[in-house]
This record gives sequence, C-alpha cells and structure tokens, in this order.
Amino acid sequence: MSEIPADADIATRVVHAGLQPDPHYGSVIPAIHQTSTYAQPAPGSFVEDYDYSRSANPTRSALETALGELEGGLASAFSSGMAATHALITAVAAAGGHIVIPSDLYGGTYRLVDKVLTRWGLEYTMVDQTDLDALQAAVRGDTALIWVETPTNPTLNVVDIAGVVARSGAALVAVDNTFATPVNQQPLKLGADAVVHSTTKYLGGHSDTVGGAVVVRDGALHQQVRFVQNAIGAVPGPMDCFLVHRGIRTLHVRMRAHTENGAAVSGYLRERGDTSHVCWPGFGGMVCFRHPDAVRIAGSTAIFTLAESLGGVESLIEVPQAMTHQSVEDSDAAVPADLVRLSCGIESASDLIADLRRAIG
Ligand SMILES: Cc1ncc(COP(=O)(O)O)c(C=O)c1O
Repeated sequence: MSEIPADADIATRVVHAGLQPDPHYGSVIPAIHQTSTYAQPAPGSFVEDYDYSRSANPTRSALETALGELEGGLASAFSSGMAATHALITAVAAAGGHIVIPSDLYGGTYRLVDKVLTRWGLEYTMVDQTDLDALQAAVRGDTALIWVETPTNPTLNVVDIAGVVARSGAALVAVDNTFATPVNQQPLKLGADAVVHSTTKYLGGHSDTVGGAVVVRDGALHQQVRFVQNAIGAVPGPMDCFLVHRGIRTLHVRMRAHTENGAAVSGYLRERGDTSHVCWPGFGGMVCFRHPDAVRIAGSTAIFTLAESLGGVESLIEVPQAMTHQSVEDSDAAVPADLVRLSCGIESASDLIADLRRAIG
C-alpha cells in the first residue's frame, strides 16, 4: 500500500497515522498484540526488536509510529504522561545538573521535579516563561533542559516556543503539548527538541486510558529516551496503546468541536460580568475563570462532571487548588482557591452554557 503524502493535511494524517494493513490477514486495523513475549526459532533470533514486550510490542510500535508522524519526530510511548516526563528529564539531565521549569505548570510535573528528582541532586529554576528575558536570565551554562508547557495547566498562558528556543543557549527545549495537540501546535517544527504528551487527554480523547509519549527530532536523543523506557519499564500495555491510537483517528474533528465549545463557553463567561480572569487560549476546550463561589459551582453542574483530568469527549469541571494542583501549594506555582477549570467536551455548546448558567446562578 502506498504511503500517505507527508504534506497531506492534518485531517488526513490523523486518520491514517501509524496504520498499515496487517501483512497476514489484511485487517485494516492492526491486531492488539496482547503478549508479554515472542517465540524464538533459535536463541537470540527474533523479528525486528520484538524479544520481550517491555522492550517492544507491535501495538505500541504502531502507536509510536502514529505519534512520530503527527509530531514530526521519533516517538516513545509510556504508561502515563508522568512516566514520559520522567523518562525525558532523566534521559537528558544528571545529578548536579540544572533544568528550567515554568512558574505555572501541571502540579504533577512540579512534584516530580521538586519532590523526587531534587533528591537525586537535580537543580531547577522556576520562571514565568511568558517573560522571555526572565527565561533567558534563568538559563545557566549547565542548564540541560528548558521545560515548557503551553498552554499552561491550569491558567492557560501561552508561551512563544520559537522565542524560548532562540534564548535556550546549549539547553534542550521540551514542550508539554498535551493541551494543544499536534492539530494546533507542532513544537518540533518551531525548533523544540522534544515534545511530551499525556495521551490520557486529547490524544486518547475518551477518558478510558492513561498514557504518555515523548517525541524527539534527534536519533541519538531518541535512543537515550528508549534506553530509559526499557530500563525503567514504565511502558503502556497493548490495549492502552490501541485505545490511544484509535482516539487519534478522530483527533481533528474532536479538536474542532472542543474549540467551538471553548469559544462559546468562554464568550458566555466573559459576558456574565460576575466571573473574572476568564481565559481561553484561542483553541481547544480548556477554559478557566475565577469566581468567589468556585467550590459550590464545581459541585453544582449536571453536564460538566466534577472530576480531575481533561481532553475527553465529555465535559469536566474542577477546582485546581483543591484537586489537580494540591502539590504546588506553598510554591511559586500555587493557584488561587477561587479558580475553576473547565474541560469543554463535544456536547452541544448551548447545553454546556445552560448548565453553567444554572450552576453559577
Ligand atoms: C499538561 C499535563 N502534562 C502532564 C500530565 C500528566 O499526565 P498523566 O496524568 O497521564 O500522567 C498532565 C495530567 O493532568 C497534564 O495536564
């Protein structure tokens, strides 16, 4: 079968990414290789690199191919977004090394760096990355990595990736692309060295699996990430890889619907007048706002489910300070208690607005 042209539109590429008909039966969707190991006709003789499923699995390879095609690099899949983050940081930074992280970011990323990796001697500087001069001042001669999250979780600030790259010196630049997805932003094309995803979110898209990915441009860096992937072993199971890969096939239509709903809901919240700091980055379904009754509102919606996570077809509501971002309390990344974060799903915008109207009162 011929290849999809590399310059095909993203709508075409997400549908076909990583999919080759099965060579034995022609099944259009590849089999789920639910196996831990592979029969060897002779010791050390096996197909490609399939000797044991921690090291490689065909269902995982198909997903990795898809992610690589969409982000324009070489992908490795992980059992969660945090496992992917851990793998990239430990692949590029060593004890005594230094990294730069944003001052608003997913709480789990901060917890990994501040509570785990510092115990192994890693140093970090937190900086508001919307201020590129401040970012440049934070980069040291020994900075191994600049960690960028854009849009940020939960305050939805947008960082100029190319601007960070221009000020990165010798440091590598990694972008957590979970909120934007390759439909809206392809960081490797903007000069970043690595992209990280929580595939749990928009890529999977159905709130039914937890996973992560690292995608890099450079072959040597890919081998370093691969080494950690196999050595640490935080790999996704075949069924989870299948679910993320299936989710990716509708990514562009889902993102269009999320964007329509994000625009409509943020517009409504701005018009109300009793909400403040309404933020929507201009794409996707993530919206946040501040309201003195944040906790009551989050517990009063009917269509928006009160739950952590985001990026699924169903709408979710949460209060980051009490839920996803507890780990940044008492740090420079602490979030206000009256902040509400919405993940607008793909339901009808008017139903979502009516739900918020009832809940806010
Ligand atoms: C921006 C961002 N990055 C990384 C993660 C971690 O991903 P996971 O929960 O799949 O480990 C999350 C989780 O919410 C996130 O929002």
